[in-house]
Amino acid sequence: MATASQLLKSYQPSFSLPPLPVIPETNPSACVLDSFRTAIAQLLSESLGLPIEKAYDGVDYGKKGEDFTVALPRFRLPGKVDEIAKKVIDKFTPNEYIESVVHDKAFLHFRLNTNNMIRAVLTQVYELTHVVPKSAGREDGLYGQNSVGEGKKVIIEYSSPNIAKSFHVGHLRSTIIGAFLANLYKTCGWDVVSMNYLGDWGTQFGMIASGYEKYGNQEALEADAIKHLFDVYVQVNKDAEADPEVKANAAAWFKRMEDGDPAALENWKVWRSMSIKKYEDEYERLNVSFDVYTGESEVGKESIDKALERLDEMGLIEESNGAKLINLEKWKLGKAVVRKKDGTSIYLTRDIGGAIERYEKYKFDKMIYVVSSQQDLHLAQFFKVLELMEFPWAKDLLHINYGLVQGMSTRKGTVVFLNQIINEAASVMHEQMKANEEKYSAVEDPETTSREIGITGVKIQDMAAKRINNYTFNWERMLSFEGDTGPYLQYAHVRLESLKRKNPHLLPLAEPKDLKLELLASPHTPNQAREIAFLLGSYPDVVKTALKTHEPSGVVTFAFRLAHAISSAWDAVVVKSLGEDEKDKASARLFLYFCARDVLGSALKLLTIRPLERM
Ligand code: ARG
Repeated sequence: MATASQLLKSYQPSFSLPPLPVIPETNPSACVLDSFRTAIAQLLSESLGLPIEKAYDGVDYGKKGEDFTVALPRFRLPGKVDEIAKKVIDKFTPNEYIESVVHDKAFLHFRLNTNNMIRAVLTQVYELTHVVPKSAGREDGLYGQNSVGEGKKVIIEYSSPNIAKSFHVGHLRSTIIGAFLANLYKTCGWDVVSMNYLGDWGTQFGMIASGYEKYGNQEALEADAIKHLFDVYVQVNKDAEADPEVKANAAAWFKRMEDGDPAALENWKVWRSMSIKKYEDEYERLNVSFDVYTGESEVGKESIDKALERLDEMGLIEESNGAKLINLEKWKLGKAVVRKKDGTSIYLTRDIGGAIERYEKYKFDKMIYVVSSQQDLHLAQFFKVLELMEFPWAKDLLHINYGLVQGMSTRKGTVVFLNQIINEAASVMHEQMKANEEKYSAVEDPETTSREIGITGVKIQDMAAKRINNYTFNWERMLSFEGDTGPYLQYAHVRLESLKRKNPHLLPLAEPKDLKLELLASPHTPNQAREIAFLLGSYPDVVKTALKTHEPSGVVTFAFRLAHAISSAWDAVVVKSLGEDEKDKASARLFLYFCARDVLGSALKLLTIRPLERM
């Protein structure tokens, strides 16, 4: 099957405009606004004697309804800004790309040729969503994708909960943001290996193993492994408070595990695989998946030993009470224990050994760890150690962090497990839907629908602001249909879907070249239609920016802008009530809404959300 990158390269839109110079790193066949920007750059370059690449870099999206804006001072040209602006204006004549240029103080505002912009954008959205993938036997839409990562491999590690401990909001955020990043990198042509690095090793497993002898129960384990192991862990921790023997016992047990004693590992293996199975179901509900389940237990002793030897040779290891420390004070990263007195490994060393093994196995070009900012020091320490060990790939490691979440609880109390979060989101949403009896009775599968909307609410709340911000978990707010929420986005999508059912007389629509898309411009159609088309055109740039910032919030903001534009068009740009003699206009409008649905759907999918067709 052809890759998305190959398809994007060979795609020629069926609607074309006059040829333009080619600017590196632009790709008009994946983002048609690139060609409009190039036309602006060409004008600037010719009128001001600038290199065209430099001119291109100065063309920004406009604010307040302008298409593109250029801040003239950034070119650092000699002379007064008014004179510079005049040179551009004098040179300009309206053309296939640009309708008008307006000079305003230090700025030039450009308005694109409306008919051509609308036709070029919508044709591209349609062809890259429906025609090109279909011809290659693919199901995914290609609009918004690009090939900047072609031939490169990235490992993205996320979620990484600890078996037998609680799944806290930190893990939820890692899961949501990590799954988004995995989609984003794929969308940008990278070969992505998504990885779940389970906390499946460490002294706590000595605790559980010894506690299991007393509190373990096969039936309870099979019913819900995650919960049972957690219960055992809680019990044995209580025992340990009263009796120091318990801890010593647990440590001895873990030492046997580390030494590879098969008897000590037998139960642990079962627990691990049962926990993964349970997690897989829950991730599925969240529309999240992993290519690889690995864990702290899988880091080989040899790689850890080798790493420690090398650090020792480099004079970075100190002994203290029989334990080994690495001194990173020179880099303001403190001192960290790398080996305990009894010789067992710890979290930090497992991460060091793990990264080395992953490089050997995958030869990645980049590796991303999606971990809470509470572990900033830990990540900085182990990245520094790998750098000191002079691994050339150490510079390719990236920590994507995020802030804290306060106040997540269910109505029954504190959240301990992932399924509690999913169930609470579903049930709060379900009750909300039931409140509107009439609508509720029309929903085909209220269980699934409310769960999907509930999960959408959780995800959108989580991704709406910059990652590093803390936020307070608020079920009411995130699950409301009003305001900028997940349910509102699903509603916008469902509304667009409903146009298909409401307008059978217009279907199937003709191919875009046979549609009278000029009827989408004024005076035939209010300006909202143009606004929607331009927004759709900007989507490939939204994706590219997200790849640079690793922020899902840019995509969320885009989805809201689009949903707002659609909702303000809804009463002005009508489809159904147009008369029989206005069928061409109705068809063009319907086509616009379908394109909007496709792009909103793609943005939601990129955000790991399953767009709904009905609700
Ligand atoms: N299991 C860890 C925790 O819950 C997170 C793992 C993060 N990844 C890593 N490579 N250290 O705190």
